[in-house]
Amino acid sequence: MSVSSKSSNKPPSVTVVAAGREDLEGIASCHEAAFPGEFLTLLGSGFLRAFYRFYIDNPDGICVMAIDGENKRIIGLVAGGKPGLRAAFTRRHILRFLGTSFCKFFIHRRVRRRLGEHFVGLLRKIGRKIHLIPPEKYPPAPEEPSGTWSNLLSVCTHPDYRGCGVGKMLMEAFRIESGRRGYSTMRLSVHNDNDAAIAMYKKSGWTPILTVPSGTYFKRSVGNEP
Ligand SMILES: CC(C)(COP(=O)(O)OP(=O)(O)OC[C@H]1O[C@@H](n2cnc3c(N)ncnc32)[C@H](O)[C@@H]1OP(=O)(O)O)[C@@H](O)C(=O)NCCC(=O)NCCS
Repeated sequence: MSVSSKSSNKPPSVTVVAAGREDLEGIASCHEAAFPGEFLTLLGSGFLRAFYRFYIDNPDGICVMAIDGENKRIIGLVAGGKPGLRAAFTRRHILRFLGTSFCKFFIHRRVRRRLGEHFVGLLRKIGRKIHLIPPEKYPPAPEEPSGTWSNLLSVCTHPDYRGCGVGKMLMEAFRIESGRRGYSTMRLSVHNDNDAAIAMYKKSGWTPILTVPSGTYFKRSVGNEP
């Protein structure tokens, strides 16, 4: 797959292509630059490489990257695919995840906060399941029929290349790849304070479907028209 942008203020030689194992180093450093201080970044570049390798190797995973053709630098990436892949990654790498998180837990406040959020999310899920929490209090995102939708997990542009249309190219690449795999809908969630990402999703034809304190869910049809 190869996507080229029509945006006029984009550096001329940027292309978006499927990522391979040989790109993992560049992918991890792009992620670190784009998400400084974020949970996965704090877990370290070894962990990041394992994370993206999982999406590259998994037939249900989507991992595409933007490359500046002039210096061959990886300047953006988008990852996702079949819903549940992130949970599958955590299960596969549970010992590494727990070990790394445990070490970083004592060093980074952000890691403590994120693990706390995961824990609270898990408690709410259990609470809803055993009818301890009314569903309207912390509503889950509306369900889609299984097998019909792809989940966009992460998208980023290196800070040196922002505002040039790279993000929109990546969103388009994800849409095309989702269509190629037979999905009819795409979903994602984003923190409510991430104004740049929210603006980009709206510009790329995505629609907010639910806002809860932990974030907003967006949806877009894979067809050309949102
Ligand atoms: C969100 C992000 C991917 C946007 O990448 P980008 O390459 O700069 O985006 P684009 O240049 O393609 O811009 C697309 C649209 O987004 C909007 N946008 C981008 N950055 C914005 C900003 N800082 N403030 C407001 N709107 C912004 C604009 O509407 C723009 O459309 P326009 O150029 O037609 O006006 C980038 O800011 C980023 O990597 N952020 C950190 C990672 C992140 O938060 N990812 C999302 C959560 S997983």
